[in-house]
Amino acid sequence: MAEHVCPWWIGYLLISPLRRLLQNPEKILTPHIRPGMVTLDVGCGMGFFSLDMARMVGPEGKVVCVDLQPRMIKALVRRSTKAGLAGCIDSRTCSKDSLCIDDLNGQIDFAIAFAIVHEVPDPLHFLQQIYRSIKPEGAFLLAEPRGHVTNNTFRDTESTAKDAGFAVVENPPVGKSHAVLLIR
Ligand SMILES: C[S@@+](CC[C@H](N)C(=O)[O-])C[C@H]1O[C@@H](n2cnc3c(N)ncnc32)[C@H](O)[C@@H]1O
Repeated sequence: MAEHVCPWWIGYLLISPLRRLLQNPEKILTPHIRPGMVTLDVGCGMGFFSLDMARMVGPEGKVVCVDLQPRMIKALVRRSTKAGLAGCIDSRTCSKDSLCIDDLNGQIDFAIAFAIVHEVPDPLHFLQQIYRSIKPEGAFLLAEPRGHVTNNTFRDTESTAKDAGFAVVENPPVGKSHAVLLIR
């Protein structure tokens, strides 16, 4: 595990309803997600984005949720069950070397990685795995926290995403974040 992986208990702060004032998942995701889509939330934590994604894809769609920390996944499963959304969530505890999504090659319509790349020791390997999972023309929203990540570091991340094969579409405004919308 990378030294600076966010401690599991921060997961509880990240699902605070107050966060929605700054980063509203519905507003951020509506342009990208439609009913029936197969989507991916990488580094999902306790599911701040995943539960809204599940509502948006509906019973015909799927949200694959991947995180390194079993305690994050356990809380996500508990929350999605309570919300009646467990049926369209496929939760996976991954390892630091693999996102455990090799079975999804070319299947994902939309992926998000929010506030995770700065915790990953090998961003190119990480982004290549996401690239392979996405359908041709599928989209990927990558966002990083402005507090932890400088403009220069985010530019480096964008250029690593291009090395992984992605093309940049735009830099959408997302509260307190650097963000880039990429396409395969
Ligand atoms: C700051 S949290 C963000 C959680 C969520 N995306 C959100 O915005 O609420 C970063 C998450 O990425 C996970 N993570 C860190 N490194 C990872 C890796 N290599 N693979 C998968 N998940 C990882 C951490 O366990 C943590 O849950």
